[in-house]
Amino acid sequence: MNIATPTTVAWVGGPPGRVRLLDQTRLPLETHHIEVDTVQGMVDAIRRLAVRGAPAIGVAAAWGVLLGLQHGLQYGVERAGVERDGVERAGVERDGARLAELLRTTCADLAAARPTAINLFWALERMQNHGLARLAAGADGRQLFDALLQEAQTIHDEDVRQCRRMGELGEPFVPDGAAILTHCNAGALATGGMGTALAPIYVAKERGKNVAVYADETRPLLQGARLTAWELQQAGVAVTLITDGMAARVMSEGLVRAVFVGSDRVAANGDVCNKIGTLGVAVLARHFGLPFYVVAPTSTFDPRVPNGARIPIEERPAEEVSEGFGRRTAPRGVAVYNPAFDVTPAELVTAIITEVGVLERPDRVGVDRLLRERGHLALPVA
Ligand code: MRU
Repeated sequence: MNIATPTTVAWVGGPPGRVRLLDQTRLPLETHHIEVDTVQGMVDAIRRLAVRGAPAIGVAAAWGVLLGLQHGLQYGVERAGVERDGVERAGVERDGARLAELLRTTCADLAAARPTAINLFWALERMQNHGLARLAAGADGRQLFDALLQEAQTIHDEDVRQCRRMGELGEPFVPDGAAILTHCNAGALATGGMGTALAPIYVAKERGKNVAVYADETRPLLQGARLTAWELQQAGVAVTLITDGMAARVMSEGLVRAVFVGSDRVAANGDVCNKIGTLGVAVLARHFGLPFYVVAPTSTFDPRVPNGARIPIEERPAEEVSEGFGRRTAPRGVAVYNPAFDVTPAELVTAIITEVGVLERPDRVGVDRLLRERGHLALPVA
């Protein structure tokens, strides 16, 4: 029996179409969807974490490119009932330079949403390259839109398949009859499919293993408490919520047998960037002799970044720490530092589980070999 997981991102209709997002800022109290129909709307949704998690951001941005195109091509600006006229007028746009410019500016606008998760830039690069190739082959506006609609669907479908594959490859590492610890949310809510770090847990449950999860609350935005605990409960997986500071205690008591986390960017030497607090968990895992597994698709690898120190780390507003969720918990005027991510050195990582294989004791050579086998593409958006 397959585990039921929530749908995080979906394209609806089109052209003109919209992107339907499960608004993760409202979880776990409300299961509320929003529909986004402009590039700025998508940028805002990514920035305020209505859609979040590296693979989900990539998928949402790919769909977001269509929003920019349909606006520029005047799809959707027509009123209902005369949409066909919009489609026909879009079809006659044959100025390749103008179309290329529209595509480039749309991708650049979306790329500015958040700086750390490489999947955002990876997906946009792929959309842009695909579109420019179609334009070079003489596509008009309508053909460009159709080709990119297809490419976004391919990116989304691949993510679904890759999540399941990571789940299958990671399942043997999930202990039967013992718990694992996870940090942040790297489940279905963070992807277009069944998740990264949680995928092996779901597959283990599907295969009849007795699985349980300790979820770090994940200060300051509580992705563990609000999202992971909710998602695992929905899927019928036993979950125990702890605050971040309790992880050492839980490990010292022998309550967990392994750590599974996701990643926002893996550097060329195997250093792993993930939600703030992950580094502390990795240090603890090493101290207590627990395996520390990272589950991430190859689209999360960034071979252009030589090591973790070069990964741009997003800094978020001080209020998330000093008055999170509307209640002030620190004195006014206190200095606050709020990096959203940290970097775990490769030497603390037991293995990175990807959709193309398991990379044990990751290092530069191993990452290079893995990406060559995959035929990897990850270039900056121009
Ligand atoms: O700030 P967020 O919620 O987007 O951070 C998400 C994470 O850090 C996840 O662990 C990471 O993206 C892996 S997602 C499968």
